[in-house]
Amino acid sequence: MPERSLRVGELCEYPLRPFDRLDCAAAAHARRELRVRRRFPQPHRLPVHEDVEHILFTEAQIGAGIDRVAREVTAAYRGTGFTVVSVLKGSCVFASDLIRRIPIPLELAFVSASSYGSGVESGALEVNFFPAESEIRGRDLLLVDDILDTGRTLARLVDEMNRRGARSVRTCVFLDKPARRATSFVADFRVFEVEDLFVVGYGLDFAGHYRNLPYVGALKRECYERPRSSAGR
Ligand code: XMP
Repeated sequence: MPERSLRVGELCEYPLRPFDRLDCAAAAHARRELRVRRRFPQPHRLPVHEDVEHILFTEAQIGAGIDRVAREVTAAYRGTGFTVVSVLKGSCVFASDLIRRIPIPLELAFVSASSYGSGVESGALEVNFFPAESEIRGRDLLLVDDILDTGRTLARLVDEMNRRGARSVRTCVFLDKPARRATSFVADFRVFEVEDLFVVGYGLDFAGHYRNLPYVGALKRECYERPRSSAGR
């Protein structure tokens, strides 16, 4: 869970309190933010997007979370080649940051799924394309997705990969929203648990927008209250 939320406009501009007046977790967060700000002074001075209610995970928190999961994945696959299968479009940002932290041999493939629904509710799932048969049959696959919500997408994709002859299939999600689960699906690796809010940024979209935000934020309710059709995950 996030150590704390930032209000709009606070991403880079909020004053950091002296470390000795913060609890341990907040002090560690503040130190990470300072390190990131020193390394990348300008890009991190972008204001928070006006449609974002508050930030749930900053870039520094995301980086630290992915470091941890990359170590877990590395330990699980050390000594065996494996293939990371990124579920498009949402997981492309996470998958590209994750694989660059895994120092053992791996291959990369993509699967594309679209859920056709309205607004923030996912609807019927359509798999647009799979990796080539040679990339699945007999391979150890790690399916990487942006968010585990009802669990229907990953449950379906795991079944399909097994049906197409994968040797093993495990799953890694950037966000896990257990409050919304409609299946018994459990991810093997996850970076953060998130409460039941509609979230955008770091690859996650609403109606195709906000994927390029470098942080994860809760979308303002007024942005999704009017039903719109969405596709393309
Ligand atoms: P299921 O329900 O199959 O859905 O686990 C996973 C897909 O639903 C989308 N999704 C979201 N996208 N913010 C988003 O931008 C959210 O809060 C959210 N919840 C679910 C997403 O495409 C995910 O892969």
